[in-house]
Amino acid sequence: MTEHIKISRQNSILHVRFTREEKKNAITGAMYVAMTHALTSASTDENIRVIVFSAAGNIFTAGNDITDFVTFAGSIEISPAALFIKALANFQKPMIAAVNGKAVGIGTTMLLHCDLVYASPEASFSTPFVDLGLVPEAGASLLLPMRIGYARAAQMLLLGEPFSAAHALEAGLINEIMSADTLLEHTLSKAATIATKPQNALTASRALMRSGQEALKNHMDKEFAQFALALNSSEAREAFLAFVKK
Ligand code: COA
Repeated sequence: MTEHIKISRQNSILHVRFTREEKKNAITGAMYVAMTHALTSASTDENIRVIVFSAAGNIFTAGNDITDFVTFAGSIEISPAALFIKALANFQKPMIAAVNGKAVGIGTTMLLHCDLVYASPEASFSTPFVDLGLVPEAGASLLLPMRIGYARAAQMLLLGEPFSAAHALEAGLINEIMSADTLLEHTLSKAATIATKPQNALTASRALMRSGQEALKNHMDKEFAQFALALNSSEAREAFLAFVKK
């Protein structure tokens, strides 16, 4: 386990929090493992009805740890990041995120699997995969065009343009904007509300809302295959080294 993911429980809410402020909450393999474990345990724990994701500090997350990209060896499909993504996509209970500050890469793509997203005015959402010589992950190349339309998805996924909180709200990527000091309280109160709903009806409704995403699993497999190729490309290596060397 890692100290960079804090897991806490408030009644039937499981709260998963990024706590790696000194590295802008960049997500390491150990952090993915901790989050996958939290999701797997929560899915069989009848007393957990909803998950809340949040982050310490003034950033949600700077995305995947880039030094982990540099040193990565092995099979993408069974990497800690991929196992987390699969657990997220398969999770059957509601997930709610509180986003304060930047949500980069998987920080944004993981939100496409959440049911509700609340953000501070300082939040921004970016998916700079192409700039890093990579391709989108977590089903984002399917889910983002479905969610916000191809034109806006192309701005994010191809041009790598960040969306401000206001733009994300207008595009339908997030639910509400509220001040950073009330964000978590508001998110937890929505989680408490959803936790009181009739559970069978809630779970079934959620599954029905996602039934248009039947292609998601195959699509994610395609993304993993492309991602593995891209990760070893010279384009990606150059981009990672540029970041590491600043
Ligand atoms: N992976 C690894 N380390 C990261 C990181 C990442 N994704 N993002 C930030 N860090 C580290 C920095 O290397 C730095 O470490 P150091 O203090 O040991 O030098 C520390 O976190 C602070 O980052 P810094 O860049 O100085 O903060 P900033 O406020 O100037 O900028 C960001 C914040 C998020 C804009 C910038 O760090 C960034 O662009 N990060 C990379 C985002 C990215 O491309 N993620 C991958 C998406 S697929």
